[in-house]
Amino acid sequence: MATLKEKRTCGQRCEDFGHFIWNSDEGKFMGRTPIRWVYISLYYVAFYVVMTALFSLAIYVLMYTLDPYTPDYQDRLKSPGVMAWPDTYNDETLEINYNMSDKKNWMKMSKILKNFLEPYNDTKQAQCNYYNCTTGKYFVQHMFDAPKHTKWSCPFYQSALGNCSGISDPTFGYNTNQPCVIIKMNRVIHFMPNNGTGNAPYLNCTVLDGQDNVRGYEYYPVNGSFDLSYFPYYGKLAQPHYVNPLVAVKFDLVNQRHAVIQCRVMANNIAYQNFYDPFEGKVIFHLNALS
Ligand SMILES: *[C@@H]1O[C@H](CO)[C@@H](O)[C@H](O)[C@H]1NC(C)=O
Ligand SMILES: *[C@@H]1O[C@H](CO)[C@@H](O)[C@H](O)[C@H]1NC(C)=O
Ligand SMILES: *[C@@H]1O[C@H](CO)[C@@H](O)[C@H](O)[C@H]1NC(C)=O
Ligand SMILES: *[C@@H]1O[C@H](CO)[C@@H](O)[C@H](O)[C@H]1NC(C)=O
Ligand SMILES: *[C@@H]1O[C@H](CO)[C@@H](O)[C@H](O)[C@H]1NC(C)=O
Ligand SMILES: *[C@@H]1O[C@H](CO)[C@@H](O)[C@H](O)[C@H]1NC(C)=O
Ligand SMILES: *[C@@H]1O[C@H](CO)[C@@H](O)[C@H](O)[C@H]1NC(C)=O
Repeated sequence: MATLKEKRTCGQRCEDFGHFIWNSDEGKFMGRTPIRWVYISLYYVAFYVVMTALFSLAIYVLMYTLDPYTPDYQDRLKSPGVMAWPDTYNDETLEINYNMSDKKNWMKMSKILKNFLEPYNDTKQAQCNYYNCTTGKYFVQHMFDAPKHTKWSCPFYQSALGNCSGISDPTFGYNTNQPCVIIKMNRVIHFMPNNGTGNAPYLNCTVLDGQDNVRGYEYYPVNGSFDLSYFPYYGKLAQPHYVNPLVAVKFDLVNQRHAVIQCRVMANNIAYQNFYDPFEGKVIFHLNALS
């Protein structure tokens, strides 16, 4: 019987199909009795409820264990980079060229520093970072004692940069042969520059080329130190008002008034010999005062 394939008309096929949808002889709907369909539906409902519950539980556990105050992904970089302003880069090289007899030109340089220092405005800092920090000590905070569940940040006042603050001399020395360069160390979360010793990291600038053209230089604040109270940094969410401490250097250029300077941040946890990252722990720049 099975071997003989009967030719069936279209009408017969439709009838077969109708029979399959509702088989009145056996009381079956699409090959199953209604009660079996109910069981199957219940099974799938239960199945999806359990799946959804498992999925929700997994998401919940994940969210619960994530700490919003520390990034889950932290860059390989453990040692901070160092940058300098005015940030007049030419390709990868920082070239601070200015013409001290061209007002338009030196105004441009002073403007860069003025804008850079805007967040450090004394009035602004006194308002945003209203906290008396103890200088010379790490400011370790385990709790979120500051308003809105944050941590305190120490103020850094523009005026701490003395003759390079732009307050007494808004030109920052760019109309003379004594320009100011401002150095900033990048933030690294939970980074402590020194272990054991408890000394503050400090800036050490050396003239790599053109020694005869540099009569001297001065650091602001004194000794070029980055006070320990700015460390460790806990991240943007924990310390929304944090500002990086700065050190400014005022150079006294003579003769050809051109030199290549390296400024390195000295601290035992700060590396500076990374071949792949020339700005790790130090910054090198060309200083060139034209007239
Ligand atoms: C510097 O500016 C002065 C005045 O604008 C101009 O005479 C002089 O040529 C400029 N020097 C250089 C090296 O561009
Ligand atoms: C700091 O901000 C205050 C108020 O906005 C302003 O009067 C003052 O000139 C600013 N100081 C500097 C050095 O720009
Ligand atoms: C910080 O100390 C000064 C002087 O002791 C005091 O006038 C000021 O109110 C203190 N500020 C805070 C935020 O405690
Ligand atoms: C700032 O500059 C003035 C005038 O050039 C100088 O007398 C003074 O000693 C400088 N201040 C510091 C802290 O070096
Ligand atoms: C400081 O700690 C780092 C690693 O955390 C270590 O490599 C280094 O030798 C330590 N330096 C001192 C002076 O203890
Ligand atoms: C600054 O760096 C130079 C050259 O690396 C070094 O000879 C000098 O001792 C350093 N000075 C300080 C105070 O660390
Ligand atoms: C600056 O350094 C000198 C010599 O290392 C030290 O005697 C002086 O106390 C330091 N000044 C400050 C304000 O740290």
